[in-house]
Amino acid sequence: MKNYHLAVFPADGIGPEVIAASRQVLRKLEQLHGGVRFETREYGWGSDHYERTGAMMPADGLRQLEKGGFEAILMGPVGSRTIPDHVTLWGLLLPIRQGFDQYVNLRPMRQLDGVASPLRNPAGHPIDMVCIRENSEGEYAGVGGRVHRQRPQEVALQSIVFTRTGTERVMRFAFDYARQHGRRLVTNVTKSNSMQHNMVFWDDIFQEVATGYPAQASDQQLVDSMTARMVSQPETVDVFVASNLFGDILTDLGAALTGSMGLAPSANLNPERRYPSLFQAIHGSAFDLVGRNVANPIASIWSVQLLLEFLGETELAARLMHAIETVLREQRVRTRDLGGTSSTTDMTEAVCRALETEPVFAKGR
Ligand code: IPM
Ligand code: MN
Repeated sequence: MKNYHLAVFPADGIGPEVIAASRQVLRKLEQLHGGVRFETREYGWGSDHYERTGAMMPADGLRQLEKGGFEAILMGPVGSRTIPDHVTLWGLLLPIRQGFDQYVNLRPMRQLDGVASPLRNPAGHPIDMVCIRENSEGEYAGVGGRVHRQRPQEVALQSIVFTRTGTERVMRFAFDYARQHGRRLVTNVTKSNSMQHNMVFWDDIFQEVATGYPAQASDQQLVDSMTARMVSQPETVDVFVASNLFGDILTDLGAALTGSMGLAPSANLNPERRYPSLFQAIHGSAFDLVGRNVANPIASIWSVQLLLEFLGETELAARLMHAIETVLREQRVRTRDLGGTSSTTDMTEAVCRALETEPVFAKGR
């Protein structure tokens, strides 16, 4: 029996609903496989915790998590109607990304059969892109300040921090990922035409790292024209590496292009496994949907799939991906974001049923 230890944060908004769905899928996998167990420990940190205590998590939260010996963290969205976003995010998610050195944010964007893209001719432009987003520094370094409030001389500074170590490692990860996954092209997303210091540096490092991967093709695209390329010629985009902010923006575009924010997963990785990695849907807390059992749980369930892959449970990961694909392709169960009326529970049960019919599991039963 293989035991994995997961920290689970339902967090805010529709989080408890999509996380319950994800846990149901994990339980189904345990039951079908028989040889793995996911020991979960749930944490109530988030905006409710803030309302009660004035902090999103305890002061020693990261240490508690580290001591817990978790291989991974499964997390719902963070964000509240009543607390400013920068307070909630800098109180929980961003300190975890930085503190646990989760310097890669891996975000697949693939258009699945049965899901409509807003693009006019999606068949001619299949979408299968992977963003490798720098996740520990750059525009999100958190360095800056604001002085002389409410006076004409008021100044706000938010400094962008690019280090050689931080830049090199994320680019290496992008090329390694491309190589390991049989992907041909790595695109460098940049803005070195206007940002002559940090982005020219970013390009230099990209060039240096690319030299070490002669089998991998590479190209370069300014972030503004990257948005146009993703819309007009998404079939030319394969793996791309982007700074923290650029990756953030481009992956919402990618999610919309592939059909719904309700489908898009993400993995915040510490590739060295010194700290636990964090898996989370890229959508927000969706206040308008809370408590109504209508949110699409697939983004969170697909994030579980990325978690399984990261744990090295490739067979389980492949089965789960296949089950997700089956449910979407058949279109019998569709949540509102996909034009249907099915509930979160319906969708989750459909994935569990699809898992049951996976040949490998069916055989073992
Ligand atoms: C994301 C989110 C976060 C980010 C926010 C909530 C801080 O938009 O994971 O894409 O910008 O990274
Ligand atoms: Mn985002």
